[in-house]
Amino acid sequence: MNRRYRKTIIAGNWKMNMTATEARGLFDELKPMISKAKWCEVVLCVPFVDIPLMRRLLKDSRVTVGAQNMHHEPSGAYTGEVSAAMLKDLGVKYVILGHSERRAYCGETDSLVNKKVLLALQTGLRPIVCVGESLEQREKNLTLDYVALQVKSALAGVPVEKLRQIVFAYEPIWAIGTGRTATAEQAAEVNTAIRTIIRKMYGARAARSITIQYGGSMNAKNAEELLAQFDVDGGLIGGAALKASEFAAIIQAANQ
Ligand code: PGA
Repeated sequence: MNRRYRKTIIAGNWKMNMTATEARGLFDELKPMISKAKWCEVVLCVPFVDIPLMRRLLKDSRVTVGAQNMHHEPSGAYTGEVSAAMLKDLGVKYVILGHSERRAYCGETDSLVNKKVLLALQTGLRPIVCVGESLEQREKNLTLDYVALQVKSALAGVPVEKLRQIVFAYEPIWAIGTGRTATAEQAAEVNTAIRTIIRKMYGARAARSITIQYGGSMNAKNAEELLAQFDVDGGLIGGAALKASEFAAIIQAANQ
């Protein structure tokens, strides 16, 4: 973390978990714990159908609500989809884009993710752009090249004045939901590489102020060490965000 130049953001990614009833229960448990988040921004990226409820429950808190996806076209005949404008209208601030589960199960490509990034920015949503390599790519020593490609294509056409709205999340696929976390050194290496790419594209000032999270089995035990890395500015947290005490402990680690 480097709080002088950029925001630390702890974001929960509930994925396809939590009915509205369950969400209310989790909120009741979380409420007394999250009010203490002083130094970091806390975001809950919840399923679409939980957004109105969570916005209502979190109204008087500093916790913001995010979504986990949006369609790449502004509106139209796309049955079953949700638009950026719909999210904005509900008071959503962040949207996760290009999560590896969507890349793997829904065929999302780098160019589709780029379309979504541009539309989110145009609509006033802050994208949390996920990038990360597979185990095979890591073993073949392709991690940095692959992540660089993802970062560059996500940013195609993004002007420097909009860059600050973007958050990156480095999420090695082999660490997501597996209990196998990247070491602090591995996370730091890739996060620093992402910042270097951004520096080359947009200059030092822009690179210094962009938030780059780590995600992949972050939990109460490993959060402190991961967040202690200079270029790890927060976390995107799946499994551990579904347990109030775990999530609160990660927030606490970010507040040290
Ligand atoms: P995990 O998920 O914390 O359960 O590994 C992280 C993510 O997919 O964003």
